Amino acid sequence: MSAPVTPPLLPPTANGLPDGSRNGNPAGIGFWALVREDYLTHGMDPLSQGFWALFWHRFGNMRMDVRPRVLRAPLTVIYRVMFKVTEWLCGIHLPYNCQVGRRVRLEHFGGMILAPYSIGSDTVVRHNTTLGIARTSDLAGRPVIGDHVDIGAGVVIVGGLTIGRGAIIGANAVVTRSLAPYAVAIGAPARVIRYRDPAEIGDHGPVRSVGSIEDHDETSIAIGSGA
Ligand SMILES: CC(C)(COP(=O)(O)OP(=O)(O)OC[C@H]1O[C@@H](n2cnc3c(N)ncnc32)[C@H](O)[C@@H]1OP(=O)(O)O)[C@@H](O)C(=O)NCCC(=O)NCCS
Repeated sequence: MSAPVTPPLLPPTANGLPDGSRNGNPAGIGFWALVREDYLTHGMDPLSQGFWALFWHRFGNMRMDVRPRVLRAPLTVIYRVMFKVTEWLCGIHLPYNCQVGRRVRLEHFGGMILAPYSIGSDTVVRHNTTLGIARTSDLAGRPVIGDHVDIGAGVVIVGGLTIGRGAIIGANAVVTRSLAPYAVAIGAPARVIRYRDPAEIGDHGPVRSVGSIEDHDETSIAIGSGA
């Protein structure tokens, strides 16, 4: 398996997102190194909407290291304004306290409501995607997206579910139940059509046979390295 990169999950708050009182950027890498990595991940395009959405996401987290609160206040104002500007200009809603791993690529832009609990490292998210709650009565039910997940255009992933490492979700799929690692799922509701070869993402392990989406014990699913 490739080296662990996802930071430890922060505790959830009442709205189901991680506790935003701390810097939730990936551990073991400084802010500017992280920004540089995001820049490289987005094809070194300084005008890439995905890069900018991630920049302000990383900035929103980095400012939480500034103490006391009064010193942080100007950064908070900048963050809040730029969060809105990013929504207006890029069509990407990505709250800072949704935990985002490294080398995440927001491919294309527009109509992206990205409010899961977390997005794993090396994951790709495309346009017109909704990751969040399934019903307003369950604000705590937010998806955990594993590492190396490939999310097609128009995908909806809602509820307190887990998308396993290396899963591929086809365009316009609606996912309301957990997906096992390496599953390839399509349709609404999503169904698994095959399991990809783990070697495609540098993992070594058995290839699963085709099955249907099942509820999984979340502790038994490799959602990412978590380290
Ligand atoms: C799911 C996907 C990854 C292909 O996986 P695959 O294992 O290679 O699947 P195949 O292409 O062999 O198709 C298998 C079957 O699923 C169907 N299928 C493939 N993608 C589908 C989708 N998104 N929705 C519904 N059915 C789909 C195919 O028509 C085929 O059906 P058939 O067996 O009846 O002929 C791909 O089709 C996909 O949706 N990728 C996302 C693309 C995207 O978002 N692009 C954005 C570019 S900007």
